[in-house]
Amino acid sequence: MTNEPCAPWPIAIDGPAASGKSSLGMALAERLGFLFLDTGLMYRAVTLAALEAGVPAEDAAMAEFAAGLDIRAEAGTTTRILLDGKDVTNRLREPAVEHRVSDYSALPSVRRAMVEAQRAIAQRGPAILAGRDVGTVVLPDAPVKLFLEASPEARAARRSLQARRWGMAQEAAEARRDIELRDRLDSTRETSPLRPAEDAVVIDTTDLTLEEVVRFALEVLGCS
Ligand code: DC
Repeated sequence: MTNEPCAPWPIAIDGPAASGKSSLGMALAERLGFLFLDTGLMYRAVTLAALEAGVPAEDAAMAEFAAGLDIRAEAGTTTRILLDGKDVTNRLREPAVEHRVSDYSALPSVRRAMVEAQRAIAQRGPAILAGRDVGTVVLPDAPVKLFLEASPEARAARRSLQARRWGMAQEAAEARRDIELRDRLDSTRETSPLRPAEDAVVIDTTDLTLEEVVRFALEVLGCS
């Protein structure tokens, strides 16, 4: 008897900053035995590399730079990112990256390079990809698309808690300002703006615990 995964794949999870995509993605990956790729970390790694090399957030300058970058995403039940063979995952939430990632990730040349790498990972086996454009651009044929939403207050409170865990304490008010700015930049950019795919199931996680969101997602997947 073959051990078929109970859920169809790939699974796309999109939504704004701190809406719970990674928490849901990691929890589902563990329950289903799938790979989890947090595509935001790939954009953060490009940003880190560009800032360190002094390459400006301009499409022409970034085209060659992004194509020549050695970025490897190791998708397990969590995602780790290797830049030139070195694990930089723990540096990707630093304020310098946080403040500039929306500028670099808006560039078409950067998106082309990353989307290609993301599709290749999604073809390796049962996978869950989380980001902003997974359901609309990266995997438009994904059989299941979830789009998470939550109020800016709830997201800022979560991000402030997470930031403490990452060793980068941030008050909720400051987290909210950062989140609102990134929401605006990610939703209004020309290439692949943040929006739900037409066939996405939208989940408002404002008043739900992670366990409740996971249970609902498993129902949508037909795995409850
Ligand atoms: O999910 P995150 O906050 O780590 O994402 C960081 C940034 O990367 C976010 O501001 C927008 C960008 N991003 C994107 O443009 N497309 C994706 N698929 C994932 C993230």
